[in-house]
Amino acid sequence: MQFPRQVRIVEVGPRDGLQNEARTVPLAVKVELIDLLAKAGLPAVEAGSFVSPKWVPQMADTADVLANISRRPGTDYPVLTPNMKGYEAARAAGCTEVAIFAAASESFSRKNINCSIAESLDRFRPVTDAARADGVKVRGYVSCVLGCPYDGDIAPDAVAAVAEALIGMGCYEVSLGDTIGVGTPLKAQRMLDVVAARVPVGQLAAHFHDTYGQALANLFAVLQMGVTVVDASVAGLGGCPYAKGASGNVATEDVVYMLAGLGIETGVDMDALLEASAFIAGALGRAPSSKVALARAGRRVAG
Ligand code: HMG
Ligand code: MG
Repeated sequence: MQFPRQVRIVEVGPRDGLQNEARTVPLAVKVELIDLLAKAGLPAVEAGSFVSPKWVPQMADTADVLANISRRPGTDYPVLTPNMKGYEAARAAGCTEVAIFAAASESFSRKNINCSIAESLDRFRPVTDAARADGVKVRGYVSCVLGCPYDGDIAPDAVAAVAEALIGMGCYEVSLGDTIGVGTPLKAQRMLDVVAARVPVGQLAAHFHDTYGQALANLFAVLQMGVTVVDASVAGLGGCPYAKGASGNVATEDVVYMLAGLGIETGVDMDALLEASAFIAGALGRAPSSKVALARAGRRVAG
């Protein structure tokens, strides 16, 4: 078995996690969470979204979040931008990296961003053009790569086509989202095999939600195929507002623990990460879903 020596973890908790919270999370909590995550050594902390506040009210204060975080040199703070309006707001807030998000499923595309896949790609093109002119990095997402809550199974070819289109318009990397966490390891490998025939695996990231408890196993499977970028969410926060029943991303603590056990470097300090996890769990008033966080908290209680 071959594993990479290093993996880059993209922390998506403050966006993918918090966007799903029904109650408004105070600005100060978002800011403190992002600062703690950056301090823990995460190289990228997704800080929010410039989307319609009618669609995702929780992200309405992203400009204020960006104005208040302590920008750590060397840390990227990408934000989601579904269209030019979002891109312009991101630029006004001083962003140097944005993310555009498409889907491999027609129904999910309509529910999530109110347009077809083809229309979404047309909307993204001006964003990537403007970003290129401005020297802004663009990351791409493809949702529903291992299944859709509305359309069921998704053909790997459909995923590959969207990923290739996003790279073609200038994304430096495409993150493959198992949005509803239904994938299993062999299915993840088969999907990646098809996508990697059209997009170099070095430009692909794994974004696995953990609804069925398969996310770590799926990561273990794709790491052996050359994936070196993993999206994760502190405390396992999240879900998706347009995918009922989906749970959060794989917990960052659990990813860091597994990668350390495999001898893979991440640059993340586990104790500092656990501090961020405990902080957001306390602020939300519930236990983290991370097994590592629960085990460490249990150890503290047990002395
Ligand atoms: P629409 O209603 O078709 O857009 O929504 P519209 O252009 O007709 O505009 C409607 C209203 O929204 C107008 O305001 C616009 O100004 C405003 P009104 O005149 O009614 O007052 N508007 C905006 N406001 C702020 N920022 C903007 C913006 N654009 C329009 N950027 C739209 C289309 C894309 C805007 C909407 O569907 C939307 O905001 N969707 C976002 C959904 C979302 O954030 N989903 C979660 C993130 S995706 C995800 O979680 C998956 C991922 O994690 C990967 C995985 O797990 O698979 C990434
Ligand atoms: Mg997600």
